[in-house]
Amino acid sequence: MADTFQELIAQIKDRLDIVEVVSEQVILKKQGNHYWGLCPFHKEKTPSFSVNPQLGIYKCFSCGAGGDALSFIQKTKNLEFFPMVMDLAAKFGLEVPKKFKEGSDTKDLKGQMMKASQQAAEFYCDMLLHHKSEEIKIAMDYLTSRGITKDIIKKYTLGIAPKSYYTLYDTLKKDFSDEVLEKAGLILPSKESGKFIDRFRNRVIIPIQNEMGDYVAFGARAIAPDQQPKYLNSSDSLIYNKSKILYGLYTAREAVKAEDGVILMEGYFDVISAQAHGIENAVAACGTALTSDHVKLLSRYTKSRRIYLSFDTDSAGQKATGRGAEVIKEAFAGLGSIKQFDESYISSSNDKYACEIRVVCPPEGKDPDEFIRTIGAESFKQIIQGAPLLIDFQLNNILKNKSQIKTPLEKTRFVKEIIPILQEINNDIVRVEYIKMVATALNIDEKALALEVKRFKALPVQAEEEVPQRITKIVTKNVTVFEKAQKNLLSVFFVTDNHFSFQQINEMIGDTAFTNETLINVKSTIDKLICTVNNVKELIENLYTEYRENADAQQVIADLTSISEMFSNLSPEDFRLVIEENKNKICQLIRNQEKEKLRKLYNNAVDDETEALKIQMQLRDKINKRLNSEKINND
Ligand code: UTP
Ligand code: MN
Repeated sequence: MADTFQELIAQIKDRLDIVEVVSEQVILKKQGNHYWGLCPFHKEKTPSFSVNPQLGIYKCFSCGAGGDALSFIQKTKNLEFFPMVMDLAAKFGLEVPKKFKEGSDTKDLKGQMMKASQQAAEFYCDMLLHHKSEEIKIAMDYLTSRGITKDIIKKYTLGIAPKSYYTLYDTLKKDFSDEVLEKAGLILPSKESGKFIDRFRNRVIIPIQNEMGDYVAFGARAIAPDQQPKYLNSSDSLIYNKSKILYGLYTAREAVKAEDGVILMEGYFDVISAQAHGIENAVAACGTALTSDHVKLLSRYTKSRRIYLSFDTDSAGQKATGRGAEVIKEAFAGLGSIKQFDESYISSSNDKYACEIRVVCPPEGKDPDEFIRTIGAESFKQIIQGAPLLIDFQLNNILKNKSQIKTPLEKTRFVKEIIPILQEINNDIVRVEYIKMVATALNIDEKALALEVKRFKALPVQAEEEVPQRITKIVTKNVTVFEKAQKNLLSVFFVTDNHFSFQQINEMIGDTAFTNETLINVKSTIDKLICTVNNVKELIENLYTEYRENADAQQVIADLTSISEMFSNLSPEDFRLVIEENKNKICQLIRNQEKEKLRKLYNNAVDDETEALKIQMQLRDKINKRLNSEKINND
């Protein structure tokens, strides 16, 4: 058992794999010794976020965010440090001394909210299954008519919220405070009396679980035909962020892994119907459009990142397909293209792709639920198996209307729609084949079409290989020479393969003065730590632990570690030289600064002649000293 809190943190860090931790939120691609992805801390379209598995750290070269696995979890999940550590300790089965636990009630509210949500789900479900009243009978008949059996009701904890204003509140207020119930979105103050009433009334309740199975929110479907809105959903809360949760993922995740693919649908009942009929890898967004966070969530479960879009067949659903595809593409931007042809189609296996989007568009039924209930699950499975890649779907969607073409002008309109799709095809052979196909289908000149596609493609796009250069540019911007030299100097502690011990490096650096407050602070912590740590990894780990509450320092450490990579693979002589050069630069800059300060003082003090004289002499002194030292350096 850990004796100190520090020790507990170290034990947890031992068990965390930075690549795994980051992969929960960011789609990563390996390049050399690092992994790259889109930074989760700011919006970007090309990856400048890197993970260094050797050192257990991450760093964004664009916004500067950086840290270790713990700080990543803390920042992305917006957690308090202490409860997070306690949660992780519990997760890894680490024993925690009692003395650490005292005074930690911060995470209690969230825990209470989840408990209340679970009790609410069970309460509504029990109502539906075991209580009798006219309204419950209506709800049950409605569900039965939709093919929802008792087993399905139990598996998805479906329920009914009766018409009364106080059913749930009266039951749950015995166990939970008003604050907890209100924050969980289960009750709200009535407009008339201001007293709390149930939020959901006269609706079929569909509880929403997060991927761990915690109950966090609800979708509630109207029962009466004129009831508005059709679905009433929980608002976002401390435990629920609808842009990061997918309905059905908890029950789908094993199947998503096993099938290495996920089927994205529109509605709660599409998912329930599909899963209940053996299409278990189906999920849906909860009353919101697909977001890149959803895509990230999914990509953790499917290695091939194979996503089937199975939206409603109406025009709104088809628009959603287009938007969904764009969101997916954007989420994978910079990590490679999307899959554009089947391997069997062509022999080249070098065309790596970042994701695979297929579109499920059955010819009948308004949505998957209706199709499965009327035509059958087996037919739906067959449609999934034959689902075309996004590109084929898009092309077919356009080409299927070609009989409408009556004039050359109309033909151009078709071609205009098709060109952006064709230009996305990376593989030359595949692109030529597609151009041939489209030219034949539309009866147009193949060469002319190829030329148009080429012109369109000529618009500037960022090549993947350019990433590292672009990044160096970003890193160097906005940093003064002074700060750069100081960071360079301090970064040598983080060079993993150098020939010197920490103590030797410290001696070489000597008593060089750092001017930036955070750097001074970090340096003094390094001084302290190098007496106990054995290697760079441990040094970094301990620094992050030390500065767990200090975002500035975390950023500096991230900077230093990435700068240190410039100084790897140096000979002992060159390593020494790096230190010397940066030291000299710093000394020189400090002297310049002091001179400047004196000059200012002198200008202000000209009225007072003796004071001026004194300063003047100091100034001359400084200049002489500098000249001397430069002489020594040059000798
Ligand atoms: P649909 O209108 O297609 O509903 O909306 P559905 O799932 O097919 O519903 P049934 O079969 O008529 O019962 C699809 C999804 O959009 C969200 C819900 O998540 C729904 O499942 N939605 C729809 C809302 O959040 N609010 C609404 O008022 C309507
Ligand atoms: Mn629908």
